[in-house]
Amino acid sequence: MLVAGNWKMFKGAHEARNFATRVRHLPERTAGVEIVVCPPFVSLQATLEGLGGASLVRVYAQNVHWDLDGAFTGEVSAPMLLELGVTGALVGHSERRQHFGESDETVRMRAEAALEAGLSVIACVGETEAEREAEETESVLARQVGVLPRHDRLVIAYEPVWAIGTGRTATPETAQEAHAFIRSLYDAPVLYGGSVKPENALVLLGQPDVDGALVGGASLDPVSFEAICLAGAEAARA
Ligand code: PGA
Repeated sequence: MLVAGNWKMFKGAHEARNFATRVRHLPERTAGVEIVVCPPFVSLQATLEGLGGASLVRVYAQNVHWDLDGAFTGEVSAPMLLELGVTGALVGHSERRQHFGESDETVRMRAEAALEAGLSVIACVGETEAEREAEETESVLARQVGVLPRHDRLVIAYEPVWAIGTGRTATPETAQEAHAFIRSLYDAPVLYGGSVKPENALVLLGQPDVDGALVGGASLDPVSFEAICLAGAEAARA
């Protein structure tokens, strides 16, 4: 079971450090759950400092470039992240695909480079509302999952785009169906993302093919993030 908080473009260094100090001991109460936070690049260092060396909370970046270094303005490479103590990265989040021209090909390149450098990867996939209505969900997922490199440090996050930040969570049945389909293509843990809240976390995480959650909005507040991690521990025990 893995619960990852995606902070998106929230929390500068000061706030990130405070949050990290708050949650550094959380893993002691959430047996069976790996806890990850994904701060903006500029807050990675402060988050690591707030957690202190002994915390089991892991810090991932929200993106990573495919080259080791070079003329790529605005990008950050895997070795730079590793040097800080960052142990993984998200790739292919739908906001990157929607607003920043991320394609299946660049997602594949980012994932491959990150894995090769030694990072863990959470690769995000998911259909838009229009694709679901056109009954293209499975073909979209097959295409997005199909390009991902096979690796035991890769985890997939199923995030239906229509459920992200909308309060419209996928029903547990819809999530389970998509997760089972993804797992028939790629045998990796599959996280669910899209309006996960303390109120719906347990039932979602209780589905047989739901191996964790990628949480946006509800990960920003330490109280609701803790509640979701505790739900993960309860689901892991069941
Ligand atoms: P949300 O975001 O929980 O705010 O819907 C999820 C995500 O984008 O990872």
